[in-house]
Amino acid sequence: MKAWRRLSKSVSPNGRTVELHIDADVLAMNVNGRACRSIWRDDNGRVMIIDQTRLPHDFECLAIDTLEDAEIAIRDMQVRGAPLIGACAAYGLALALKKGDVDIDQACSRLLATRPTAVNLSWALNRLRHHLSEQPATANQVAAAFGEADRIANEDVAINSRIGDHGLELIRRRFETTDSTVNILTHCNAGWLATVDWGTALAPIYKAHDAKIPVHVWVDETRPRNQGAALTTWELMNHGVPCTLIADNAGGHLMQQGQVDLCIVGSDRTIANGDVCNKIGTYLKALAAYDNNVPFYVALPTSTIDRDLADSNGIPIEERNPREVLEITGANGELRSSICVAPTGTRAANPAFDITPARLVTGYITELGAGRLPDL
Ligand code: MRU
Repeated sequence: MKAWRRLSKSVSPNGRTVELHIDADVLAMNVNGRACRSIWRDDNGRVMIIDQTRLPHDFECLAIDTLEDAEIAIRDMQVRGAPLIGACAAYGLALALKKGDVDIDQACSRLLATRPTAVNLSWALNRLRHHLSEQPATANQVAAAFGEADRIANEDVAINSRIGDHGLELIRRRFETTDSTVNILTHCNAGWLATVDWGTALAPIYKAHDAKIPVHVWVDETRPRNQGAALTTWELMNHGVPCTLIADNAGGHLMQQGQVDLCIVGSDRTIANGDVCNKIGTYLKALAAYDNNVPFYVALPTSTIDRDLADSNGIPIEERNPREVLEITGANGELRSSICVAPTGTRAANPAFDITPARLVTGYITELGAGRLPDL
C-alpha cells in the first residue's frame, strides 16, 4: 500500500490563496511522482480541490469554503466526473451547515441544479441528509455532516480500488490468451480525477500496469471539452502508463484493424435494465465495438446505479453552452486562449451525454465484481 507523501505548493487561483498540504496513510495516484487525491481536507480541515479547468497546463488547487464555492466548482467543472461531483456536493452541504441558519432543502436544490445527469450528486446528498436525520438532537450537526462527507470520499477510494481489482482480472485474462500488450480504448476521463482516487474505467488499467501486465491505452480526445486529451492523457502519463491520444472518430477504424482488445468506459447514470448514460460519444464507440466483436465494459460504483428510473429516456441529458463546440481552448506557453473553429453566427448544439443500450454492453465492473449489473 502506497502512503501519501506531503505535497506543498502555494497557489492563488481566482483570488483564493492556499497552501496545499496532503498527508495521509491511504492509497493514492500520482502527480509528478507525488501522491494526490482530487478532493481532500487540509491540515486545517479546509476542503481542497484540484482546479481541473487548468489542467493539463497548470496544476492549481482551490479551497472550497462555502456552498457557493461548491456550486461554482461543480457547475464550471473545476471538479467533474460522477463520483467526484457527489463528494464535492456532500462537502458543499456540510459547508452550508457550517455557515449556520441554513435551509437544507434550499442548499440541496442549489447543488442539484449545478449538473443534472450524474446520479451520484443526488445519491450523496440523500445519504448525507439521511445521516443527519439519524443524529440525536444534541449532536453537532456540522461535525456529523463533515464526518459523513469524509466517509463518502474515503469510501469512494476503496470502492474504486475494488473496481480496479475486478477489472484487472479481465485484463489479465486477455493478456494470458494473447501474450501481448493489451490495447484498451477509453472515452472521456473516468480516471482518478473523475472520482476521489483511482478512477472507475482507469482503475483496472492502473492495477494492470502496476501488476506489470503490458497495457496500452487509446485515449479518445472527447470533444467538445477534451477531457480525454487534457485529463486522461495527463493522468496516465503521470502514472507511466503507455497511451496514445486519438481523434474521437478514429476508434471505429482502430477496432476494424484489430488494434483494440477491449473498451472500458465510465458511467454517469446506469439504470436497472443496464442502459448506460455516459459522456457524449460513448454510444458510437459501443456500436463500433459491437460490430467488431470488441468487448465493451462499463466500470461504475454501485452509487451510479439509478434504481428509480425504468426507462433511460427519463435520464436528464445536460445541454451545455454551445461555445464549447464553437471554440477550442488551449495554451501556447503561458498564454491560454479559446479560438473559434466555425464561421461567425454558426448555430451549435451541445448535448453532453448519451445513452448506450444494455445490449451493446459486454459487462459491468463494480466494486462487487465483473459481469452482470448487480441486483441491489
Ligand atoms: O462532463 P464530465 O467530464 O463530468 O463527464 C464525465 C464522464 O462522463 C465520466 O465518464 C463519468 O462521470 C464516469 S467517471 C468515473
